[in-house]
Amino acid sequence: MTGRLAGKVAIISGGATGMGGAASKLFAAEGAKVAIVDRNEEAAAATVAEITAAGGVAAHFVADVSDEVQVNNAVAGAVARFGPVTVLFNHAGTIVIKPFLDTTLEEWDWLHAVNVRSMYLMTRAVIPHMLGAGGGSIVCTSSISAVAATPMEVLYDTTKGACHMFARAIAVEFRDRNIRCNAVCPGFIRTPHGLHEVDELQKRGVDVSEAAMQAAQGRIGEPEEVARAALFLASDEAGFITGTHLFVDNGFTAI
Ligand SMILES: NC(=O)c1ccc[n+]([C@@H]2O[C@H](COP(=O)([O-])OP(=O)(O)OC[C@H]3O[C@@H](n4cnc5c(N)ncnc54)[C@H](O)[C@@H]3O)[C@@H](O)[C@H]2O)c1
Repeated sequence: MTGRLAGKVAIISGGATGMGGAASKLFAAEGAKVAIVDRNEEAAAATVAEITAAGGVAAHFVADVSDEVQVNNAVAGAVARFGPVTVLFNHAGTIVIKPFLDTTLEEWDWLHAVNVRSMYLMTRAVIPHMLGAGGGSIVCTSSISAVAATPMEVLYDTTKGACHMFARAIAVEFRDRNIRCNAVCPGFIRTPHGLHEVDELQKRGVDVSEAAMQAAQGRIGEPEEVARAALFLASDEAGFITGTHLFVDNGFTAI
């Protein structure tokens, strides 16, 4: 297999749908053996079938990425199937959209577990395999929300701030052991998550109309546009890039 990820074994959390799904297909098309770790078994199996039909190599492992045992089992399963993991795309995540004073401690804990604890668990399980293989590349999905706040999203914005710094801190600690770690920071993207977010914000009086979207980032982004940025960071083409935040937002955060 040729391609920019030829010879790599990639785990993609949240790799069943949306940007994760687009990345699963693109990484496989670029030569990686792809292990999708996702809680949505049906969608993960469908993405694997699509990759296989196109001549790629992929498998799925069902796990809730906030659960330590499930994450460890999924990573062990991926390594047993494909060998040491050399690319990790920490993408799985979700959102709570509510007025701050209506949010609960349970929601705070749950969202931090799904968005942040997941990165800790996945990365901690994968790095020993990368070290054994002589190195690797980790990409974490942050967001414009790590640096630009939206009303009704205090919990979400806080988790993405943590993802943002997680990527940088891993980069610094592992640079001299040949493991790179970067973040992709998407703007509003056409995925189930992104469309749900726009819908909920509109219902709660936050203007994310087409006109507002046009002013902020020109148009809604497509999942493949983020997948291509993640591919670059994952690949050896980004060999001197670590600890960076790559905004894929058509200028949202530049305005
Ligand atoms: N879509 C956007 O506008 C946007 C913008 C910035 C950042 N993001 C980030 O992208 C990610 C959401 O992905 P998407 O937009 O591609 O949409 P998506 O909802 O299609 O994909 C999320 C994937 O993660 C999986 N997932 C969610 N929670 C999980 C869990 N606990 N365990 C295992 N798998 C789980 C889902 O099953 C799904 O396959 C989040 O990290 C979010 O913060 C999205």
